[in-house]
Amino acid sequence: MMRSDLSGHLTEVQPSPGRQTLIECREVKKRFRYATKGSFLAVDGVSLSIKRGELLAVIGESGSGKTTLAKIMAGLIQPTSGRVFFEGKPITSLDRRERLNFSRKVQYIPQYPDLALDPSWYIYDSIAEPLRIHRMSSSREEELKIVRSVSARFGLSLDQLRRKPRDVSGGELQRAVLARSMALNPEVLIADEPTSMLDPSTQARIVRLILDAQRELGFAVLFVTHDLQLARVISDSVCVMLGGKIIEFGSAQEIFSSPLHPYTSSLFSGSTFAGETKDNAACPFYSQCNLRAEICCNSTPPEFNIGRFRGVRCWNLGQPH
Ligand SMILES: Nc1ncnc2c1ncn2[C@@H]1O[C@H](COP(=O)(O)OP(=O)(O)OP(=O)(O)O)[C@@H](O)[C@H]1O
Ligand SMILES: [Mg+2]
Repeated sequence: MMRSDLSGHLTEVQPSPGRQTLIECREVKKRFRYATKGSFLAVDGVSLSIKRGELLAVIGESGSGKTTLAKIMAGLIQPTSGRVFFEGKPITSLDRRERLNFSRKVQYIPQYPDLALDPSWYIYDSIAEPLRIHRMSSSREEELKIVRSVSARFGLSLDQLRRKPRDVSGGELQRAVLARSMALNPEVLIADEPTSMLDPSTQARIVRLILDAQRELGFAVLFVTHDLQLARVISDSVCVMLGGKIIEFGSAQEIFSSPLHPYTSSLFSGSTFAGETKDNAACPFYSQCNLRAEICCNSTPPEFNIGRFRGVRCWNLGQPH
């Protein structure tokens, strides 16, 4: 498999089939119940796995369930049903020591960095605190060395570390959030639209830093984004979400060169889709789809597997009708 870097060069990356699965979820659903009345199924039966060193992009429109799925994978919210496995073990059955290990190895970068750090703490302490919790430094000198080194990697000066979150820019805050996660030397980085709040040039610089760190340190990344161009350029594999479901997945190269689900095609062609108008059809794309048939309204398409790592939830591809 080839991956194109941000400047357009092609570099070899290890093919995913031989790699070991690090984290996966199986048949995960999340139903939010409203305090007043009713409920909403934000994630509807999602299974996916992330292999060691892989960069998996999750794409889809606003409200499709990307953040909810990312938080479930990071163990930050409990699914209503289904399970998340880390290194083969359900995260709900981890003992105290294993749970601590999970919370070090799986790092979550939130969509809104301003909510990530304690506003009353100096940035230095926010980066150092997880090191203290995980006993990753034996002295204050060693702690300072780790914090300085990881902050320098993400372009933060000592002066910026001595400030509070309100006294740095959005880009600097996101660098601090990344440095805090990276100081723990994680195996999986779950990055939820980590640059969507930033201007394009800062966005490109921060993505570059994440990719450089990944290349050097070999951690896996679940990268949530609605920036299709970015997903095409950075990812090994892609999951497309719609209405809480993964409606298509495969290698980035296959997904972008030959999308199979009508929704994926419409997303790439830039067609607008009224995602909020959720009808009750079994397929979330039913009312917009040119290929719809009766079965698409009444019966949820299963995941039709095409090849070893390619799946599509569309009756049109699974069964002639
Ligand atoms: N805590 C919550 N309580 C109730 N509903 C929620 C909650 N969190 C998310 N939702 C709903 O679940 C759906 C999916 O939300 P989610 O944040 O996962 O979407 P998203 O794909 O990340 O969107 P965006 O691209 O805008 O970030 C939305 O309709 C949202 O309103
Ligand atoms: Mg989101």
